[in-house]
Amino acid sequence: MKKILIIFAHPALSKSKIHRRLTDSVNNLPGITVNNLYENYPDFYIDIIKEQQLLIEHDIIVLQHPLYWYSSPAILKEWFDLVLQHGFAYGLKGKNLVGKQVISIISTGGDKEVYCKEGRNHFTINEFLVPFKQSVNLCGMEYLPPFVIYGSYSLNNTEIEQLNLKYKKLLFGLRDGQWENNILNSKQYFNDILD
Ligand SMILES: Cc1cc2nc3c(=O)[nH]c(=O)nc-3n(C[C@H](O)[C@H](O)[C@H](O)COP(=O)(O)O)c2cc1C
Repeated sequence: MKKILIIFAHPALSKSKIHRRLTDSVNNLPGITVNNLYENYPDFYIDIIKEQQLLIEHDIIVLQHPLYWYSSPAILKEWFDLVLQHGFAYGLKGKNLVGKQVISIISTGGDKEVYCKEGRNHFTINEFLVPFKQSVNLCGMEYLPPFVIYGSYSLNNTEIEQLNLKYKKLLFGLRDGQWENNILNSKQYFNDILD
């Protein structure tokens, strides 16, 4: 069984419809660690050594957050800036993360239709996630297709429960090594692997 670390960034969890439900459903399950950055570091003083140790101890890293201004909430950027140090995460002697898998799990306010060239947001989610993908690649890790929850404002409880089932299927499947690499790389979005 692989070990999954969820790096979770949501600054207003009490108002959350999606992410609170998702993280609550897997907190404390075997092989899954939820690392709630805003809860652990309300003042943004990230414990770099602790975060690096957590990364070393896990095989799969999940970057989970709502999409904020076509990117992540601010603390995740701070986490990247501080934790993925030269000599630890990249560079000649920075090989600690090589071979780990990384996946983004994000939610958007916008509907799926607006995330394309012709749509209101002009770019796809994969295009907005390029800085994450390339940062992960620079560290010798493998960036899997992201899992995207679109149109979060209009989702009803039944739809959220269905998404929660998919989320758990994704995490348990990755943890238990359910998919070969050729399957993981066969789609643009993890949603299509689960369907
Ligand atoms: C500061 C801020 C920026 C946001 N930026 C975007 C955005 O760029 N694109 C988008 O589709 N939704 C955007 N949203 C909507 C959030 O993505 C949406 O509220 C979130 O995915 C819902 O998840 P939750 O129910 O767990 O809070 C933004 C929301 C906030 C508060």
